[in-house]
Amino acid sequence: MSIKIVRIHPHFVGEVSGVDLSTPISDDERTIIEDGINEHGVLVFRDQNITDEQQAGFSQLFGALEVPDLKTNITKDEDRRLGRFMADISNLDRGDHILDAGSRQRMFNLGNRFWHSDSSYRAVPAKLSLLSARVVPRIGGETQFADMCAAYDALDENTKKEIEGLICEHSLLYSRGRLGFGDFTDEEKANFKPVLQTLVRVHPGNGRRSLFLSAHAGKIEGWPTPVARVLLEELTEFATRTEFVYTHRWRPFDLVMWDNRRTMHRARRFDDTVEVRDMRRTTVAGEAPTVM
Ligand SMILES: [Fe+2]
Repeated sequence: MSIKIVRIHPHFVGEVSGVDLSTPISDDERTIIEDGINEHGVLVFRDQNITDEQQAGFSQLFGALEVPDLKTNITKDEDRRLGRFMADISNLDRGDHILDAGSRQRMFNLGNRFWHSDSSYRAVPAKLSLLSARVVPRIGGETQFADMCAAYDALDENTKKEIEGLICEHSLLYSRGRLGFGDFTDEEKANFKPVLQTLVRVHPGNGRRSLFLSAHAGKIEGWPTPVARVLLEELTEFATRTEFVYTHRWRPFDLVMWDNRRTMHRARRFDDTVEVRDMRRTTVAGEAPTVM
């Protein structure tokens, strides 16, 4: 069986078949997958019953792994459920119990329900994310992806001119602030210091321009904050219109790999105080800041 990628959305997203990620893959397969991510932005692999180690091994074929940074999370090291390179995208605590309804971790994690690009609050934002579903809820809990290249292409020429060269500030303080989550310690406030990201970026793998938006974006350099927020909101609304969005309905052992340089994503609602959603993410670090 040889590896094959079939486009499943008019603008982006490929479904990959003929590859088993629980065994090492060949150089040719790696190249096909990397070309596939540059072309499609999101790749869906079904029926991949893999361990955390196999997931990390596969992920690092595409670059250095991003280590979840204790400075940009509120979970303390001793409370982590997963290994060093795994981001825990679950509603579980260290003992595999569903997080208490009022827990600070649950409130913080709700930020993933807003459209965002992973690690855009880091000076060097993430290149790729790989999310493996181990346990999925019966209802809800989908992940949606928006194609920011297709959205950019569809902007009118005036808007394209207006936004070219703009620089935004991204921080967890903005995305979590939108949740009404404001009880940050002084240390967290210092750790969540805003970073600069360009609003329009060029994809190094396919040469296309895209909108680099995220719930973490809260200001535009040189603009009054309300004026910036209104533009960011308007662009986000435009970029997440139905035609640019793919909704992934998870099955256990799906692995979805996406390009944060080209897409935004968000998780959808589910009964997170009753049902388990155990998702594990590895992240391939970006290579350079977007603002020099
Ligand atoms: Fe995310």
